[in-house]
Amino acid sequence: METTTTTQPPIGTIAKIGQHDGQTVIIRGWLYNLRESGKLLFPIFRDGTGVIQGVVPKSQVTPETFETIKNLTLESSVVVTGKVRADKRAPGGYELDVSDVRVVEKVPVDDPFPISLKEHGPDFLMEHRHLWVRTPRQTAILRIRHEIIRAARNFFDERGFVLTDPPILTPAACEGTSTLFPVNYFEEQAYLTQSGQLYIEATAMALGKVYSFGPTFRAEKSKTRRHLTEFWMVEPEVAYAQLDDIMELAENFISHIVQSVVANRRDDLKAVDRDVTKLENIKAPFPRITYDEAVKRLQEGHQKGQLETRFEWGGDLGSPDETYLSSQFDRPVMVHRYPAKVKAFYMEPDPGNPELALCVDVLAPEGYGEIIGGSQRIGDYDLLLQRIREHGLPEEAFKWYLDLRKYGGVPHAGFGMGIERAVAWICGLEHVRETIPFARTLTRIYP
Ligand code: 4AD
Ligand code: MG
Repeated sequence: METTTTTQPPIGTIAKIGQHDGQTVIIRGWLYNLRESGKLLFPIFRDGTGVIQGVVPKSQVTPETFETIKNLTLESSVVVTGKVRADKRAPGGYELDVSDVRVVEKVPVDDPFPISLKEHGPDFLMEHRHLWVRTPRQTAILRIRHEIIRAARNFFDERGFVLTDPPILTPAACEGTSTLFPVNYFEEQAYLTQSGQLYIEATAMALGKVYSFGPTFRAEKSKTRRHLTEFWMVEPEVAYAQLDDIMELAENFISHIVQSVVANRRDDLKAVDRDVTKLENIKAPFPRITYDEAVKRLQEGHQKGQLETRFEWGGDLGSPDETYLSSQFDRPVMVHRYPAKVKAFYMEPDPGNPELALCVDVLAPEGYGEIIGGSQRIGDYDLLLQRIREHGLPEEAFKWYLDLRKYGGVPHAGFGMGIERAVAWICGLEHVRETIPFARTLTRIYP
């Protein structure tokens, strides 16, 4: 039963509970945990913004209220009335002296919330992802993800970039034909997009500086901790920009994102046990090394017995190579000018050595590896056509893309950052499956 007062207390949120210090407020949320100690109950409530411990002495509430709280099951939804009290020992700095609780829906005693506070294996947790997202560590990660996305958008918005959304259903490949998800498009073959790049090259020729931010898909049968089949990519594309310009853009972009998270999500970083001093250090400029130098370092690593196989010039960097390289730096390292052969068809050759592409991969430190891939795009019509043919791509589907080189083509460049890779690194997570509300991987499409 709700206490009948003439004026309702204000509705508060746990994250901003300090605004109500000394006042009675209403919190609308769920029971996260419950401890009992003789005639005292310590329910912990969560409301989506944080958690707060309630204190319920038997002598201070009605017998009904005491019994109701005592018998509450975890994750039951509740509307709690209580007085906010500052307490230095409390994790958020405040406790709630509970006076009343209204149960919205009680979780059945014989069918309890499946996620308990004990350890569960990753498969069990992923199978219950729809409930797992409620737990404090997961909510912290999702708030950090939100901050990363917010900061990414702000970065481009403040610099005059126009958001142009590319299509998701596409007639052709952007990043290699072996990793496409086919879609039956009214009896025509179509694919889920691998990247918005080709389309924002067109909008860059219309608007100068553009970006896209949306879901992208890769069908490679990879089970590594860095791979999702569906992930979110943010991609800027800049007319008249060259490789150096977008390398500078990329380092400023990453610095901005990391410093925004450090400034605005410090508590959440703490909740995921992130070493914040490592992130505070992430400020442009970042070290830059050529692919050639990367190869030298990898070969040295092999000589020292730190890498199993000897890396040969000409190959693409694998996960262990990236991990090795990126753990040598305390900020992201930009590796530029890979052999054109191991990269996408659209990359401009290096005039100094046409075997190399004017491209860059940004590898996050602490062994996280590639979070950004970018390049200058081929400007010459004939060379682009030749590359399309060499890669066995359907010329018809790329006619419009070739047009961009025919009608006022200019040098241009851009990059793409996978949001989930960035979240994994910034949160210090082992696996990308925790970086997105509902991960799609080789073995999972439920829930
Ligand atoms: O290096 P990628 O394949 O580059 C492109 O798609 C370019 N068209 C981007 C551009 O120049 N506009 O992918 C870019 C980034 C990677 O660095 C990585 O962060 C992320 O997208 N990424 C993935 N993230 C999660 N799971 C996967 N399977 C990913 N594949 C790429
Ligand atoms: Mg790449």
